[in-house]
Formats: sequence, structure tokens, C-alpha cells
Amino acid sequence: MNVLVAGGTGFIGTNLCRELRDRGHDVTALAREPNPDSVPEGVATVVGDVSAYDSIVETVAAHDAVVNLVALSPLFEPPSGTSHEEVHLRGTENLIRAAEDGGVIRFVQMSNLSADPDSELAYFRTKGKAENVVRESDLEWTIFCPSVVFGEGDEFIGFTKLLTTPYVTALPGGGENPFQPIWVEDLAAMMADAVEDDRHVGKRYQIGGPEVLTMKQVTELAYEAEGRPVTVLPIPMAMAKLGGILAGPVPFVPFGPDQIRSLKIDNTVADNDVTAFGRTKDDLRTLEDYLGLSGSGSGSESSPSSHQSEAA
Ligand SMILES: NC(=O)c1ccc[n+]([C@@H]2O[C@H](COP(=O)([O-])OP(=O)(O)OC[C@H]3O[C@@H](n4cnc5c(N)ncnc54)[C@H](OP(=O)(O)O)[C@@H]3O)[C@@H](O)[C@H]2O)c1
Repeated sequence: MNVLVAGGTGFIGTNLCRELRDRGHDVTALAREPNPDSVPEGVATVVGDVSAYDSIVETVAAHDAVVNLVALSPLFEPPSGTSHEEVHLRGTENLIRAAEDGGVIRFVQMSNLSADPDSELAYFRTKGKAENVVRESDLEWTIFCPSVVFGEGDEFIGFTKLLTTPYVTALPGGGENPFQPIWVEDLAAMMADAVEDDRHVGKRYQIGGPEVLTMKQVTELAYEAEGRPVTVLPIPMAMAKLGGILAGPVPFVPFGPDQIRSLKIDNTVADNDVTAFGRTKDDLRTLEDYLGLSGSGSGSESSPSSHQSEAA
């Protein structure tokens, strides 16, 4: 197949492009400033901005399948000159319109576990509205809603370290908010299945990794991997929100009130749809294994193993 991966130069995109290429597809990564050296060998790049229809229409029409991975970072305020509406919603509308007009057959949309058209948070509201645009299209669509994704080049571990310090650190609410981190290569393989296999058409998948970890546990693991212990102290959520509101409008401090609010969200799946891809939790890579900590535990009384839950 001829597959266009919008956002194919990003963290998940490069892994998906590699997986699709390895399966024998012709793959092109679309981005505003694609660096050919940032994509796997054999993957083509093309310039396009999903929020500008004319810049993508011809490219989209030249493909059999389109994957939409374009999004703003959920961890930071949108850069000036853009918005969640523009990138998530308008961008999806443009890709869908170009795909329908151009005779594209299959469309895979990357969304989010908390996507909801009625969410008070712009990130999740526009992701939810974008899902509706995809569902209402004439295309053979599949929607993915993963928990946080880890792997080489992720924002998740880097962001955890940005928010914290080794040895002693404070986290809103003590960092008790749960995640179900999924390894990027496990996710990319499932997305490639959705591109190829009719059985995934018309499905919305909630995808989580093999274990549930709190932000506190992820912080402990991230520093343990560097040989540095950390003690997490709680900051009351109300104080963190105030800090976020104050930091929001300050230049060079991108972490705002929406990001603080999003720290309260449960990022786990009730029924893990990895089973739709013939996988169980035992087939998926754990964060400890990725960090080189397999079998060592986190070194605290709230070790990950004591908080693990069955994911599939
Ligand atoms: N990473 C996670 O933990 C996670 C978890 C759940 C869901 N997701 C979803 O997965 C998708 C990919 O995430 P990621 O972490 O791989 O993101 P990423 O690394 O930030 O990549 C974003 C990609 O989108 C491109 N892009 C941004 N704005 C664009 C525009 N207006 N037009 C065309 N391309 C544009 C970027 O390239 P340029 O800047 O050069 O344009 C880049 O290729 C997103 O939809 C995200 O919401 C991610």
C-alpha cells in the first residue's frame, strides 16, 4: 500500500513509518518541516501543514491510506500563532476532506483516552470533536486512544524529569494519578495492523500497556534508572493549580493551568483493546524493562509491582 503518515517525523510517527516500511509498504511522512534524516531509511518525506488544506490536498490524494498523528503536545501550552482547534480539529477536517475527495480508502486517527467533545480542557475537547469528524466520514476508519507512550525520544520520561528533581521532589496530589504506559513499538505494530486489516475498520480502540503506574512510581523509576533515589512529597492540587495559572501566561514557562488539571486525569483503560490485535499484557514491554530495571523493583514501599493491575 501507499501510506501517508501525517506527523510521521514525530516520536510515534518514526516508529510507525519504520514498522510500515518493514512490512513492505511505500511510506511517506508529512510534516511542516520534515528533516529527511529524522525518518527511517527508505521512508519519503513531504512538506504539508494539516491546518492549510491546499498544502496537503495533492499529497493525500496520491495515497491509499492515511494515518493522522498530528497533534500539539499535551504537556505544554500551544505555541503562539496556533491552537488546539486549528491543529486537532481543523487539521483532521482537512485531512478527511482531502482523503474523501482524493479516493483514499483507509484512515487511521490517533486520538487520546480522555478525548471528549464536552471536555473543559481544549486538548481533549478538540481531540473528541476530531473523532466525530472521522466517524462521520465515508472512509474505512480506525481510531486509537492510547495511554501515555514510552520509548526512544518520548516526552513522557523527559517531562517527568522536567517536573521533578532527584532526591526530594514535590508532585501535585503526591503524584497518585495513574497511567498505563505502552511501549511505542508495541503500539506501532497495532497501528500497522489497522492500516492493513479490514477487521479493524469502524473500531475505536483504547490501548494501555501491561501495568498501571502512578506518576509517583514513574518518577521513582526514571531516577532509579540513573542510580538516583527520590522521595516524593505531595503538593495540594489547589496550590499546583494556582502555580499553573500564574505560570500560564509567562513567556518561556509553557506549563499552564490545563496541564496541571490534566495531571488529575485517570489515564488507564478498563478493557484493554490490545486483545483485538491478538496480544495480552504478557506480550507487551514494561517500562521497567525499557529502563533496564527488570526484576530490580523501584526501591520504595510503593513499588510498581504492588500497584500493577491486569491490563488484558
Ligand atoms: N506520545 C504520547 O505519549 C501519546 C499518548 C497518547 C496519544 N498520543 C498522540 O499520538 C500522536 C503523535 O504523538 P507524538 O508524541 O508522536 O507527537 P510528536 O512527536 O510531537 O509529533 C508530532 C508530529 O506532527 C507534526 N506536526 C505538528 N503540527 C503539524 C501541522 N500543523 N501539520 C503537519 N504536521 C504537523 C510534527 O512535525 P512538524 O513540527 O515538523 O510539523 C511531528 O511530525 C498525537 O496525536 C498525540 O496526541 C501521543
